[in-house]
Amino acid sequence: MRNPGKNIKMTVNNLTVSYNDEGPDDALIIIFIHGFPMNKSMWNAQVEEFENNYRVIAYDVRGHGGSDAGNENFSIELFVNDLICFMDALKIDSAVLCGLSMGGYIALNAVVNYHKRFSALILCDTNCTADTPESKIKRVKTVESITKTGVEKYADESLKNLFAPESFATIKEEIEDVRTMIINTSKPSLCKTLLALSARLETCDKLPDIKVPVLILVGKKDKITPPSVAQLMHERIKGSSIHLIAHAGHLSNIENPYDFNKQLSKFMESSKIG
Ligand code: MLT
Repeated sequence: MRNPGKNIKMTVNNLTVSYNDEGPDDALIIIFIHGFPMNKSMWNAQVEEFENNYRVIAYDVRGHGGSDAGNENFSIELFVNDLICFMDALKIDSAVLCGLSMGGYIALNAVVNYHKRFSALILCDTNCTADTPESKIKRVKTVESITKTGVEKYADESLKNLFAPESFATIKEEIEDVRTMIINTSKPSLCKTLLALSARLETCDKLPDIKVPVLILVGKKDKITPPSVAQLMHERIKGSSIHLIAHAGHLSNIENPYDFNKQLSKFMESSKIG
């Protein structure tokens, strides 16, 4: 029996997971996966837009938002396993998957390894490559600095890279919301996720195997996963579409929800998803 609403708690993989489940019972399902270190509320503008025509589910990845962290070390594989167990618990055989950045790493891995469970994929401001040796060192330094100087300093540093320069003048409230999401993530979860991101495997060579419709969205001013890496994924995924979102950096769905939703809507209506 479905239990629609916001901030629903369910035990999945021995873990309490918090999720929103909105829209009609029998509609096509879109599952949204947030970026690091945010939570499901980063998808509010998309949920609001799509809940009339689709069943929209946004959940908090382990250790983020209202979901428990559990005791084990984090990895993208563990996050994917959580997703599949979450879908099993909700009795969802197949869904459209939309992930941003870390959410995109999870979505890509899930589609590659469980292709029968997904009917389309939206990759936003994400990447198929693994961390370079330099970025791995940077992640370890970030873990040290969070441990020593705390989350607030980390949050303020992160915001500078997450948004396009103009966003600091135009969407102050949304930026404050993202800051709150970051500082509400516990120190251990921040550190465990940073290590999981740094250990993630490259998936670029698996991209030609993806057979479902794929839309790639990226902020024109994304400094973390720039349009060039989105283009690389587009070239490797046969039949995929790509769109650059103007006036947006890494959090394109928050910075330009109008264009983001327009592209997503066009994709959902035009793709043969089934
Ligand atoms: C994210 O937004 O999820 C992160 O920027 C991903 C990363 O640091 O690799």
